[in-house]
Amino acid sequence: MNEASLRPDAIFSRGPDITDELEHLVRPDVVHRRLYTDPDLFDLEMERVFGGTWCYLGHESEVPDPGCFVRRRLGRRQVLLVRTAEGGLRGLLNRCTHRGTTLVGEQRGCAHRFTCPYHGWRFDLDGRLQNLPVPDSYDRLYERPFDLGQLKVASHRGFVFATLAAEPPALEEWLGAALPWLDEHVDRYPGGKLKVVETAVKVEYGGNWKMSWDNAADGIHATFAHRSYNLIGKEAETDTVLARNPTDTPMISRTLGHGHCVVDQRPGIPDGPWSTMRPLPTTDELVGALSETGRGDRETLDLATGSMANLSLFPNLVFVGNQLMVVEPVAADRTRLTMYLTLAEDAPDEVNLIRMRVDEDFVSFGTPDDLEMFERVQDGLQVVEEEWIDISRGESAGDSVDEHGLVTGDIATEAPIRAYLEEWKRLMAKPIPTTVRRSRIEAAKFDKRLRRQRRNTETT
Ligand code: FES
Repeated sequence: MNEASLRPDAIFSRGPDITDELEHLVRPDVVHRRLYTDPDLFDLEMERVFGGTWCYLGHESEVPDPGCFVRRRLGRRQVLLVRTAEGGLRGLLNRCTHRGTTLVGEQRGCAHRFTCPYHGWRFDLDGRLQNLPVPDSYDRLYERPFDLGQLKVASHRGFVFATLAAEPPALEEWLGAALPWLDEHVDRYPGGKLKVVETAVKVEYGGNWKMSWDNAADGIHATFAHRSYNLIGKEAETDTVLARNPTDTPMISRTLGHGHCVVDQRPGIPDGPWSTMRPLPTTDELVGALSETGRGDRETLDLATGSMANLSLFPNLVFVGNQLMVVEPVAADRTRLTMYLTLAEDAPDEVNLIRMRVDEDFVSFGTPDDLEMFERVQDGLQVVEEEWIDISRGESAGDSVDEHGLVTGDIATEAPIRAYLEEWKRLMAKPIPTTVRRSRIEAAKFDKRLRRQRRNTETT
């Protein structure tokens, strides 16, 4: 056995450098079909993109009390977001350190400890090995990496991100120009209090995960792919923002660095988000109830709809309407999207009930359009003789670049696609050193714990 591989703080850095190959595959105006179809590139993405940069893990409101946990996935790694006994946050690898069994099977829950179902090894909420059968039979137990592996975790305004990168930038630095947009999103909620609803909507499509990224800031598709959704809006005589000519609206699309971007529809809807609402089940009654109690003002009603500023944080979090959409790659040609509804904790109940109706609306009548397009693209990319995908729109269509290199264009610009692919290339080109962190228990404390365990065994 290689002793170095047992070091709890071992840094992993595997080659090779594929910069030249990526420069060939991703060019300023086109991208090669292999990015969406190649299983080897997919394997590398799971390692380098979903291990080497900050990824969204969950929201603090999902783990409010000590012992609360939710199970998530970063690439192929199962991860538990845990609220510790002291109230801190941990991102634990959901992998028993004995023989690798998935430790926790539930999607969420509350526990005092985690016990492996295979041979009963037990870990505390910090991931420290607490107990195991026949401890005497292991040499130097406390010196070996038997405590659960951890990711580095950081939180901003309740949004928790994690990474395996050995030396990641500070979370705020990584958020960069996206940070004020995230703050603005949270500030919409009275008191800044946002709560993620436990039950989420999960959908899967037969296409590559980056298609949902291509789509996130794609203001062109809405007019065409969501035509039926828009027609329903027209029937209802509402101002459907999605149906506008994408080049003839003051709405903007902006790149924010590190692959992040935002589509701000608000300049195109001067009467506010509520003015775009179409009739939905029970909303008339709910608005009536708000008005009767003097809470039917525009600010309150605007909170019932999406913010109309869709922020995307590469590689796995997209704010869509009132929802947080998390992108989970499954295979080169399969992706899972999980949509978490958010509530405004201090808003009237009626507002939160309308938020649920709003979310059901687009998930039911809009999302299926996107999923069908993704699957049709994946199918189209099977034509190996046609190698290239065009991503050129914008440079001759009025895009402007600021002194930091961030691009602002109309909502039809493809600048956000080019920008996230630059970040993708940066992460993929060379191995970013990663490390599995651990909460080590001191040897003396561990010995004491074992002695106590032995005593208990002898007396029973
Ligand atoms: Fe977990 Fe054996 S695999 S205790």
